[in-house]
Amino acid sequence: MRRSHARTRINSNMDPIKLHTRPLTRSTNLFSRNPKPTKSNPSSFAIPIALTATLITLISCYYVFIHAAKPSFPPSSVKYGVLLDGGSTGTRIHVFSYDTETNHFDFDLGSMRLNPGLSSYAVNPTNAGDSLKDLLDFAKRKVPPAFWADTEIRLMATAGLRLVDVVVQDKILDSCRRVLRVSGFRFADDWATVITGSDEGVYAWIVANYALGTLGGDPSETTGIIELGGASVQVTFVSDEPLPQEFSRTLKFGNVTYNLYSHSFLHFGQNVAFETLRELLSSGDFNTAAESLQKGTYIDPCSPKGYLHHVESSPGSLAAKIDLSTLQAGGNFSECRSAALTLLQNGKEKCSYKSCYLGSTFMPKLRGKFLATENFFHTSKVSFSHFDR
Ligand SMILES: *[C@@H]1O[C@H](CO)[C@@H](O)[C@H](O)[C@H]1NC(C)=O
Ligand SMILES: *[C@@H]1O[C@H](CO)[C@@H](O)[C@H](O)[C@H]1NC(C)=O
Repeated sequence: MRRSHARTRINSNMDPIKLHTRPLTRSTNLFSRNPKPTKSNPSSFAIPIALTATLITLISCYYVFIHAAKPSFPPSSVKYGVLLDGGSTGTRIHVFSYDTETNHFDFDLGSMRLNPGLSSYAVNPTNAGDSLKDLLDFAKRKVPPAFWADTEIRLMATAGLRLVDVVVQDKILDSCRRVLRVSGFRFADDWATVITGSDEGVYAWIVANYALGTLGGDPSETTGIIELGGASVQVTFVSDEPLPQEFSRTLKFGNVTYNLYSHSFLHFGQNVAFETLRELLSSGDFNTAAESLQKGTYIDPCSPKGYLHHVESSPGSLAAKIDLSTLQAGGNFSECRSAALTLLQNGKEKCSYKSCYLGSTFMPKLRGKFLATENFFHTSKVSFSHFDR
């Protein structure tokens, strides 16, 4: 979807290939060719020959500069942007460009991911910044050097860091700021932040509707998002219902106003939710499905039979101290499903709103179309990849 969108957009403007292929290499070729024609120096030969040579030089210069140079080097209206996405399991860098005259974006310049996430530096926060260096090198290969100083770089961290103590959060961000200040890209200290879960959902909603071509159109035609991260889940969609202020976001795009419900459910991300489930199972509090085999042993229906639990104890990881030796992988879909549903209903009795679909948090009636993104996508890609061929 995103790719086809990008292609039609570029076609309408300029040569699609030229804009995508490394402008850096092309411009190097160009300038290496440049000195050659100027060497054709008229010496003691007849003037007409010199004139002809000059003319040929001019014509070839014309072709080299006008025909080759124009599309190969980004026009002055093009700007680059670099975004660091600090997730709970890894940090990703995205490089994109946009044309300030046409407002067209090119998101295909590249992205790179490094594990673990910034939250894993909770025990030694001053080292967090160093983890960005390989990512920055990647960005520098994608953005032509002449554009570095004018290219904004921002770091937005999400639920992984939201779960970390605020003092430690600041230390981790400060360590990153030290590295970003000298990165060569344009950076201001407040461009490295932990964004709120509500913002995270709104950004995902904007991206989805931009890609679908529904941004700027009728609110009822937009698509909601359910974004399954590692530590949190964002749910954002247009709703007609009156919303409690803390869940309500208003977004103006052109002459259209979107009234959005947006919320991030912390602890409901894929990895953290799975840890919570195993913690509940191993404590024996969760008796819906986990029949006891022997005393003190419980079945984990959500891990495939034969799977051996091992504690991934990377220091500072989100993993709770769970005694996994009490868990035995049971691999039973229906039991896993009912355990997961029970987990989603946890705390429902504390719901103080008209409706709560997840725990005790307000959510209006889901309406319209939805896009399930991030780990929903990654998981389905792994699970169903063998059907592809
Ligand atoms: C927004 O304005 C444009 C013209 O400026 C109009 O065509 C479009 O229908 C308007 N959209 C809405 C939702 O009112
Ligand atoms: C899964 O659990 C259900 C309910 O306990 C049981 O009826 C079913 O036989 C189990 N399936 C397998 C494959 O063990």
